[in-house]
Amino acid sequence: MLTLTYIGHSAFHLSDGSNSVLVDPFITGNPTATVSAGEFSPNAILLTHAHNDHVGDTIAIAKRAGSHVIALFELANYIGRAGVEQATGGNMGGTIAFDGGTVKFTPAWHTSSYEDEHGVHAATPPAGLVVRFGGKTIYFAGDTCLFSDMKLIGEEGLDVGIIPIGDAFTMGPADAQRAVEFLNPKIVIPCHYNTFPPIQQDSARFKRDVEERTGVRCEPLAPGESIELTDN
Ligand code: NI
Ligand code: MN
Repeated sequence: MLTLTYIGHSAFHLSDGSNSVLVDPFITGNPTATVSAGEFSPNAILLTHAHNDHVGDTIAIAKRAGSHVIALFELANYIGRAGVEQATGGNMGGTIAFDGGTVKFTPAWHTSSYEDEHGVHAATPPAGLVVRFGGKTIYFAGDTCLFSDMKLIGEEGLDVGIIPIGDAFTMGPADAQRAVEFLNPKIVIPCHYNTFPPIQQDSARFKRDVEERTGVRCEPLAPGESIELTDN
């Protein structure tokens, strides 16, 4: 059993009833979040890339809760240097285990760096994540454009595909519809939209267009909303 909660932007919380995972936990400063970072004590935090709207509260949560942070090599090293005890780096095609599941890094087309008051750090490619947890396979595309190798990712057998639709910094709704065709998940959940003015999108229209075009069930979630995926 898997409970998947949308926090807002690209931040998600997963729970299998005994272990929990945060992905891209941008909570503090996220204008759409309905929760606070202090509410979460995940076993693991998984990151797609180093941009601040994805790393978000990772370091503070991991230091407080002892979470295992998993990210691409350079970003994991940066987070380890920032004082997180358990930060594991991987790279494209590699799979890393955490309490209750695994994560495999896949390519994404985007840029990636982390900015703080001392400058720009953790230059590393961006990634997508294929997460196996709670008996389900969930693909987090991260920030990316459309690319045809999404067909290979679809061959992983996806229960859920989580893809950006905001445009401007990622693919927009039209390319995201083509991504759904390549990925062919059982359920698609849009993300990375309506957080800021440049990425306003109509998720109801996206749902209608995707379901008409692909037959794949589309479930836009409001920030704070959850869906439960049972075993079947
Ligand atoms: Ni980004
Ligand atoms: Mn982003």
